[in-house]
Amino acid sequence: MGTIIEDANKEATGSALAQKNPKIVFVLGGPGSGKGTQCANIVEHFGYTHLSAGDLLRAEIKSGSENGTMIQNMIKEGKIVPSEVTVNLLLKAIAENENDKFLIDGFPRNEENRAAFEAVAGIEPEFVLYFDCPVEEMEKRLLSRNQGREDDNIDTIRKRFKVFLESSLPVIEYYSSKDKVRKIDSAKPVGEVFGTVKALFTPGQQTAAS
Ligand code: ADP
Ligand code: C5P
Ligand code: MG
Repeated sequence: MGTIIEDANKEATGSALAQKNPKIVFVLGGPGSGKGTQCANIVEHFGYTHLSAGDLLRAEIKSGSENGTMIQNMIKEGKIVPSEVTVNLLLKAIAENENDKFLIDGFPRNEENRAAFEAVAGIEPEFVLYFDCPVEEMEKRLLSRNQGREDDNIDTIRKRFKVFLESSLPVIEYYSSKDKVRKIDSAKPVGEVFGTVKALFTPGQQTAAS
């Protein structure tokens, strides 16, 4: 629960956003499935702005915010940060950006994330990109990612996989039931994966993946 002023601010951000009516694509997939890698390619070719929920949360820790310690502990344990925090960071980033096309990477991670975003932003995604990759391949990639992340160690990685299976896959199933999911095999080399992704963003070729 926020204060009356915080709630009013949130409402204002929500309605400003509804007016802006941005185009949103959710980018989902297990840890290490290649979301960030493919988003960078989409940005380059199709002019979207990439917002990674994980990156926004890590920036929040670095900024010395009052939520920093809580976020850091959740990330270390592979747990999902309360939606209020993540949704606020995403809405702020969207509102501050002139662009009207956004890739939201690593969100919604659970049902609570999904419902919170829908309630506050009132925006449905155009579609959901789902990068499907075997766990063994994702594990191998995370262990050699080398970005100095505190959660890229085998113990946290296993916890993140469990959270993905238990909490994130149901969100993908939810969007699947609404025919919004474009599932892509991301175990292939980066260029091949992007070949399939590209078709989804190219008018007239939306049926290349299902
Ligand atoms: P995510 O954002 O889904 O966690 P990343 O894009 O950060 O995943 O990719 C995780 C690691 O795997 C990175 O080191 C990246 O360079 C590598 N990677 C990404 N896509 C592929 C691919 N198709 N084949 C091999 N390695 C990949
Ligand atoms: O997507 P990424 O791998 O960068 O996410 C890292 C961590 O950030 C997750 O394991 C989780 O702890 C946190 N996170 C979250 N809620 C999200 C996205 C990420 O709590 N929607
Ligand atoms: Mg990422």
